[in-house]
Amino acid sequence: MYQAPLPREYADLTPDAADARIQAAKQKLGSRLVILGHHYQRDEIIRHADFRGDSYKLAKDATNCPDADFIVFCGVHFMAESADILTSDHQQVILPNLAAGCSMADMANAFQIRNCWRDLEKVLGHSMSVIPVTYINSAATLKAFVGERGGTVCTSTNAPTAVRWALEQGEKVLFFPDQHLGRNTGVLLGYDAEADMCVWDPFKPLGGNTPEKILSSKFILWKGHCSVHQRFTPELVHKAREEHPGVQVLVHPECPLETVNLSDFNGSTEKIIKVIQEAPSGSTWAVGTEINLVNRLAQEHPDKTVFCLDPQICPCSTMYRIHPSFLCWVLERLVEGEVVNVVKVPESTKHYASVALKRMLTVCA
Ligand code: 13P
Ligand code: SF4
Repeated sequence: MYQAPLPREYADLTPDAADARIQAAKQKLGSRLVILGHHYQRDEIIRHADFRGDSYKLAKDATNCPDADFIVFCGVHFMAESADILTSDHQQVILPNLAAGCSMADMANAFQIRNCWRDLEKVLGHSMSVIPVTYINSAATLKAFVGERGGTVCTSTNAPTAVRWALEQGEKVLFFPDQHLGRNTGVLLGYDAEADMCVWDPFKPLGGNTPEKILSSKFILWKGHCSVHQRFTPELVHKAREEHPGVQVLVHPECPLETVNLSDFNGSTEKIIKVIQEAPSGSTWAVGTEINLVNRLAQEHPDKTVFCLDPQICPCSTMYRIHPSFLCWVLERLVEGEVVNVVKVPESTKHYASVALKRMLTVCA
């Protein structure tokens, strides 16, 4: 989405000044304000968050703040949309920089998904038993699509539970937009990455598949990926093991299957944090996820060696758009009585998107 440039006063703020002004505005707003921060946010932002978490935890945290008028979401657009869907009408969700999207979420849109569904109906028949599952990293319109067709949302924390549930409701799962999380989850549940799965490329007829392949697949995986996590290749795992004997490898399930297979552990950002917290002193960890989180883990655990699996720095460029100057700007506007950068999901989308999100919270409670 488009974000207008910051007023000069904010663009020129020094880090110390931004920090002090954010704290002052927070104090003035008191309990009317809650700041949520995703683990990939930079330290200068995360220190101001009332709640930190992965996508699943933050979605639940948003529902647990019924008294806050303003929920400032330091994360990306789909997270703010989910918070808006799950919170009351009197609450407003604010994204400090509207240009903070997610390139993976942008790899599937409602038009493409409807076309895919129509094609699947042609191959499988109108009474086809396909349950759509969307990763929370998707637009609200996709969540609504899923909610309307008996499917659910999932996150990296609960994907196995959500997908197992979906396979109890129907014969096949259409999983979007992240092929890697879909494939890793299917394999975890005992399915074969080749025989039981096909990849749906929205730019090819029938997604690039034959009707036979679609008929024999249990999982139809959308051809989307995260550009940050796709960089964690099996070669990097081999290199880390060669250079750091005894290292343990811990990756996010948005990484390719071959990388996940070679790792010692995989899981959501919340799980990554827990594994490092519980690791013994003196242990060594190569972590395959976004650099802000890896650096924070290294700082918070000086008794352990924690480094990024990819020596080339790998930030999520959209998460990074939540700069302290933007946070300062939205908070000071609130103090002045002006609400800027509200993320509001249209009512027509909200109903079924809410069905899908609440189904996830129930199924995966
Ligand atoms: P988590 O839900 O694990 O925090 O992941 C969100 C995300 O965008 C990872 O790239
Ligand atoms: Fe999206 Fe990847 Fe950034 Fe997560 S790390 S918000 S999936 S682009």
